[in-house]
Amino acid sequence: MTIPVITLDGPSASGKGTVAARIAARLGFHYLDSGALYRLMALYATRHGIGFDQEARLAMAAVRLPATFAEGVVQLEGEDVSEAIRAEAIGIGASKVAVLPALRAALLQRQRDFRLAPGLVTDGRDMGSVVFPDARLKVFLTASAAERARRRHKQLIDKGEAANIEQIQQDIEERDARDAARAVAPLKAEADAHLLDTTSLSIDQAVEQVLAWYAAVASQPG
Ligand code: DC
Repeated sequence: MTIPVITLDGPSASGKGTVAARIAARLGFHYLDSGALYRLMALYATRHGIGFDQEARLAMAAVRLPATFAEGVVQLEGEDVSEAIRAEAIGIGASKVAVLPALRAALLQRQRDFRLAPGLVTDGRDMGSVVFPDARLKVFLTASAAERARRRHKQLIDKGEAANIEQIQQDIEERDARDAARAVAPLKAEADAHLLDTTSLSIDQAVEQVLAWYAAVASQPG
């Protein structure tokens, strides 16, 4: 029996991380936030003075990256960096290191190691296309850039950080363009993915829709 995987791919701030984590909790499955690996690489590069374009050095570091994920806490070199990897600058750095083919290849096995019984829910850009092409259910989650900017703006304000909604929308659009235009594993909906536009959906509604799709495929043989 292969271990079932549910993939949620989509652009930044589409809500896929929140939706994926809730689905994992509901099903009792493991959860992989693949974007966190790219964010960790950007943080590691920043801290060790490695340029975001130094492909060979970054790929070597990726294989040995001293990072752990346990109970929602992300550690890098023994330090809790759960908050640090969420900084806007690190998100932008993550999207820059993510264009490097050797770095992506170095992270491949590390991501596949998360596939453990009874199942895995994962979110990212290439989970359904490259990392888990045999996933039981593939979802492509989107929302308009304006709605994603509104959500990100609210998150930052709630955290007490200064935020400019026009600037956030511009950053989101630039990241979308970079993630979609890169040669390796670009952001795109797979032909076999279910499309979910969350522009006017609540998180609960998005979660219920994905669970309904999963219930339908899980009841089929194979
Ligand atoms: O999902 P996120 O915003 O945390 O991802 C940060 C960056 O990492 C994103 O801009 C592109 C990159 N990424 C990727 O290339 N492939 C993935 N599977 C996940 C993230």
